[in-house]
Amino acid sequence: MKILVTGANGHLGSKVVEHLLATVPAKNVAVSVRDPGKAAALGARGVEIRKGDFEDPVSLANVFAGIDRLLIISVMGDNETRTRLHLNAVAAAKKAKVGYLAYTSLAKADSSTLWLGEVHRATEKAIRETGIPYTLLRNNWYIENELDLIQSIASGGPLVTSAGNGRVSWAPRADYALAAANVLSGSGHENKTYELSGPSATYMDLAAALSKVLGREVPVRQADDNALGTALAGMGVPHEMIPFAVGIHAAIRQGALDVKSKDFETLLRRSVTPLKSQLESVLKGLSVSA
Ligand SMILES: NC(=O)c1ccc[n+]([C@@H]2O[C@H](COP(=O)([O-])OP(=O)(O)OC[C@H]3O[C@@H](n4cnc5c(N)ncnc54)[C@H](OP(=O)(O)O)[C@@H]3O)[C@@H](O)[C@H]2O)c1
Repeated sequence: MKILVTGANGHLGSKVVEHLLATVPAKNVAVSVRDPGKAAALGARGVEIRKGDFEDPVSLANVFAGIDRLLIISVMGDNETRTRLHLNAVAAAKKAKVGYLAYTSLAKADSSTLWLGEVHRATEKAIRETGIPYTLLRNNWYIENELDLIQSIASGGPLVTSAGNGRVSWAPRADYALAAANVLSGSGHENKTYELSGPSATYMDLAAALSKVLGREVPVRQADDNALGTALAGMGVPHEMIPFAVGIHAAIRQGALDVKSKDFETLLRRSVTPLKSQLESVLKGLSVSA
């Protein structure tokens, strides 16, 4: 059996590969990367390195040839680019007759009001239409998305949000990666859609958890969308990113990331990393003493 992971030089993909290598022989693992040089260390461990770019659908079918289980990791970019590249990858998987296809999607992708929801809706639809047995891994929110916010709070700023009582299931990339690796190396996941959402929390809960970790009260400022935009600009968030960030808080306020599911724990075979531990790890990465 040969398993291939795309985006293996990226943050999530590299963690999926590490988790896979803990249980699957390296000769059964392949990666598709745009820069094989960056994957040389994996090659030295026996992982097959294939050069692949979703911009090149013709060669991509060769990259996916002979693969029994494929994980397509979603890419970054504007919605049009993301959708086009994902559909290229899905079409290549079909052309290459891969035996099984998993995809890193988004919480409630079928109904999500997040601006990136349409990307994942279109990709999920294309995957279903291939007829290839599939698993949709609907990731909730990376705690790493909050790095700038946590950095700003650690430097003494308040937590500013317009998300109100909206709930989010934060988890570290490492948890999403372990769930994906367990699906790829496991069985019985064909034609399943998993909501990878653990215990949920509001931004007030996030502030309370940060208060415990930092040992001081983190003030919360509930703002409207305009005031949030102004606050983000003051934190140094680039001008062009502000509408996206404000849109995310607005969608969270409307429940876009509020999901109750046991899928994540089931796939992890343990609990999702507790929020306080997630924050401790993030702060350690930022070299901020708690
Ligand atoms: N749920 C959430 O909270 C959340 C948050 C952030 C991101 N995401 C999604 O999760 C994905 C993985 O996250 P991440 O943190 O690992 O991001 P990342 O480190 O930026 O990884 C993205 C991967 O996509 C690959 N990629 C980009 N363009 C490509 C192309 N044309 N052909 C093939 N591969 C291409 C990159 O390849 P190279 O290594 O060659 O650059 C990279 O490995 C993101 O791309 C995004 O869609 C979800």
